[in-house]
Order: sequence, then C-alpha cells, then structure tokens
Amino acid sequence: MNVQAPTAVSQEQIDQQLAYIDRIAALSRDFEQQHGRRPRAYTQTFGCQQNEADTERIVGMLHEMGYVSTNQTSDADVLIYNTCAVREHAESRALGNIGALSHLKKERPEVIIGLCGCMVQQDHIPEKIRRSYPQVELLFGTHALWRFPEFLYRKLSGEKRVFDTSGDARGEIAEGLPVLREKGPRAWLSIMYGCNNFCTYCIVPYVRGRERSRRPEEIEKELRELVALGYKDITLLGQNVNSYGKDLEDAVDFSDLLCRLNQVPGDFLLRFMTSHPKDASHKLFDTMAACDKVAKQLHLPFQSGSDIVLKRMNRGYTAQHYRELIAYARQKMPDITLSSDIIVGFPGETEEDFAKTLDLVQQVGFDMLFTFLYSKRSGTPAATYEDPTSKEEKQDRFARLLQAQDACVLPRQQAYQDRVLRVLVDGTSKDPQYPLTARTEGGLLVCCAGPESKIGEFLEVKIEKTTLRCLFAREVDNRM
Ligand code: SAH
Ligand code: SF4
Ligand code: F3S
Repeated sequence: MNVQAPTAVSQEQIDQQLAYIDRIAALSRDFEQQHGRRPRAYTQTFGCQQNEADTERIVGMLHEMGYVSTNQTSDADVLIYNTCAVREHAESRALGNIGALSHLKKERPEVIIGLCGCMVQQDHIPEKIRRSYPQVELLFGTHALWRFPEFLYRKLSGEKRVFDTSGDARGEIAEGLPVLREKGPRAWLSIMYGCNNFCTYCIVPYVRGRERSRRPEEIEKELRELVALGYKDITLLGQNVNSYGKDLEDAVDFSDLLCRLNQVPGDFLLRFMTSHPKDASHKLFDTMAACDKVAKQLHLPFQSGSDIVLKRMNRGYTAQHYRELIAYARQKMPDITLSSDIIVGFPGETEEDFAKTLDLVQQVGFDMLFTFLYSKRSGTPAATYEDPTSKEEKQDRFARLLQAQDACVLPRQQAYQDRVLRVLVDGTSKDPQYPLTARTEGGLLVCCAGPESKIGEFLEVKIEKTTLRCLFAREVDNRM
C-alpha cells in the first residue's frame, strides 16, 4: 500500500503568517488613528461548504488583523471574493460581481479588491484577471490560502499587484490559523481536503489538489472547541469523506472517526458531506446507526441512473450498486433522510439514459435533490466528448426531472403530519404564525411557532401542516 502522510505546513511557516497578522494589526491601529474608525472588510463566497469554511478562515485572519466585517461593498477597505469553478454559472457570477467593482476602485483607489478560491486556481484565470480586471490587485489560489496574511501585507506595503497561485497540488494542511465562524448553532468542520476521483466532468480535483486528511486528534480537538462554544449542529466536510484516512499512517477510516467523535460529550448533532457511492460501505451505515449523535441523514450523489453514463463519468459504481446501498442504509435506519446530486445532459446522454435517471429518482424516493445541467469545464476529459443533444432538449429533461422529484417529495412530506420530532431552531422565518426556522435531525426545513429566544435550542415539536418545501410545527408541551 502506498501510504504517504500528508505534507503539513510547518509550525515555523504558520508562525511567519501569525507575525504578518501582527504587522497588519499595527497598520490597522494607525488606520484607526487617522480615520477615527477601524478598517472594514467585505467577503463574499461562491460555491460549496468547503469554500464557506475557507472564507471563515479568511474572516478569522482579517479579524485578528484588526478589521471589522461589513456587508456592504461600498464602505469596505478590503474586499475578498472566494470563487468557485464547478459550473460556468458560478464563474460568471463571480466575474460579474468583480466587473461591477471597477467604479468603486475609481472612486476610492485605495480600496483593495482580492480574489481567491477554486476559480483562480485554474491555469488560465490569473492571466485573464491580469488583463481584463485591473481593479483586482490581490489574487491567491486554494493551495496558498494559508499565506493570505503575507499577501495582504505585501499589498498594504505598496506592491502593485500580488498574484500567487503557487503551492503543491499534492496539497498541504495548515493547522493553527484563526477562524471566525458564522453565528448560530451550525458549524462546518473540514476533515479532509482535495479529491482524487477525477470524475470526467469535474474541475474540483484540478483546483483543490490531492486528497489529504487532517489527523483525527486535530479534528477531535476542533470539535470539542466547537461544542464548548455552543455549536450544536456540526457538519464534517470533505469532497469524499468515505475515503478519509487513506493517506494517514494510522489505520483509521471514516467510520472510526465518526465513532471517536460521537464520544465527545455534549448535546450536538454530527452530519457529514459528501459521501461517494463507490466508497460508502456497510460499515459506514452500521456506524451511523450505532452512533447517537450522528444525524440519520445521507447525501449520496449518484449523478446518473445509466450505467453507460456512470462509466463515462468515471464514477466507479453501477445504478444497481447504488440501489443496494440505499436499501441497506434504510434497513439499518428506517427514518433516514436521503438526498443526492444529479447531472442532466452529460455529453452523449440519450433519452434512454435519462429515463434511467428518472427511474432511479422514482424508485428511491429522495427527500431532497440537487440537480444540475451539465456545464463544460475546460481541462476536464468530458470537455472533449461529443455533445450532440440540444440545449432545449437538456432543459426539457431538467424540467421533467424536477417534476418527478416534486411528485415524490410531496407524499414524503405529508407523511410527517402529526409526528413529533426533535428539531434544532436556527433562525427566523417570514411566516407570522410560525416565525422560527428549524431543521429536523434529517435536515428537513421546519417553520416553527415560538419566541426568538428559542434560537439555538433543540425542541420537541409536533408537525401541524406540511407543504412541498416545509413542515410547520409547534412545540410539544411536556409539562402536562
Ligand atoms: N465531491 C462531491 C461533489 C462536489 S461538486 C461528490 O462527488 O459528490 C457538487 C456537485 O456539482 C456534483 O455532485 C455534481 O452533481 C455537480 N457538478 C460537478 N461538476 C459539474 C459540471 N461540470 N456540470 C454540472 N454539474 C457539475
Ligand atoms: Fe468532483 Fe467527483 Fe471529486 Fe466529487 S468525487 S469532487 S464530483 S471529481
Ligand atoms: Fe466550487 Fe471549489 Fe466547492 S469548485 S463546488 S468551491 S470545491
């Protein structure tokens, strides 16, 4: 077996970055003296939870540097856009936002506009930004994110443009940098980075580097901190959590990690995403069933119901294998909530292939689906595949898929009528009768009656009404 420990960023390198943070904090104090206020930072995230978790690191570092957060671009001194490359739409949104900032830069030339994340890690992007987006003066890739303090310091010290997408695609792990999470009961906890799967449509392995796992003790330490801070719904993140640990020297897999984390004391729920069907095992489902803190929720993307398409996507399983996995998971956890990702219109997908996707959707009965029209990503193998199906035909398939899904979800939602469930209240809704939002253990959205003081608490509620997208509930009175 080719076991190689992930490269860790050394303590010395981390200390250097912490020293840059201190230097910037001194600059921020000067700024405050001059302007009578602290410098402000605006951040915006595109893409997946992994990117959101990365932005929380950037915000954590900015905070230590003396910046306060603002949610307005117009009054920010530093703006950082954390970009995504998974579909063309994500890229055009980011580029559109940055394009719209050229007037801000003209009005206030001292403003620093920065780009980071997956989009800029693609080979052709830095040059494009250099040429067409002169307002962007700071750019760093996913591999270099931990060096953000150094880059910002260089920019603040007068360097015209700081662009750096260097870093080893095998990837490194940087521990010990600050992080500032969103308020509320939910938190992301990265357990691994990168992806080794090279699904033929997907850009992620090219922009996130190779799979590397954080050490179990580091993850447990962070989980304990989160629980102590009051977080109650913690999602373990990785592109394919089922291959957790394969690169570590200790013989530890994802199920072992779940068992270990389940023993951390406290009242909290653990979720995880994403699982890959090729590596999801019976052991995982047995572990989920046995661990009381692990939410009975599974996001298991199947992408297509056609074996021919799955093979051309390089997914490494068949539709039948997927059905068997679901059957086993349901046998162990009858109440489990299931969701999936599906790509419609993969190059060469025929009507017959698509019909198999529809079949699988109808047979399994998912609680939630994330459906995407195939988007060509340059540099991936599928970008060279013939794609004779028209856009209209693809859109028609997409619409039929959504229809089929809604038809499956409605009875699933209705089956919750009058049930008593434990939910975690996490925010407010616009419905005056049910002004709180909450999630079930399975991750379903619930609008709940009750005062705002309940935010952050677990409640026993009874479902009074159901719709396609939401359950409506009231707290069960336990005093009687
Ligand atoms: N690692 C996760 C998914 C990460 S990307 C997994 O393998 O399940 C999230 C989703 O985006 C994918 O599951 C896929 O459905 C979709 N996706 C990825 N590349 C895409 C592309 N080129 N076009 C359309 N959808 C894509
Ligand atoms: Fe992309 Fe496939 Fe990796 Fe998921 S498993 S990130 S879809 S290459
Ligand atoms: Fe997008 Fe990067 Fe996530 S490409 S989906 S932000 S890993």
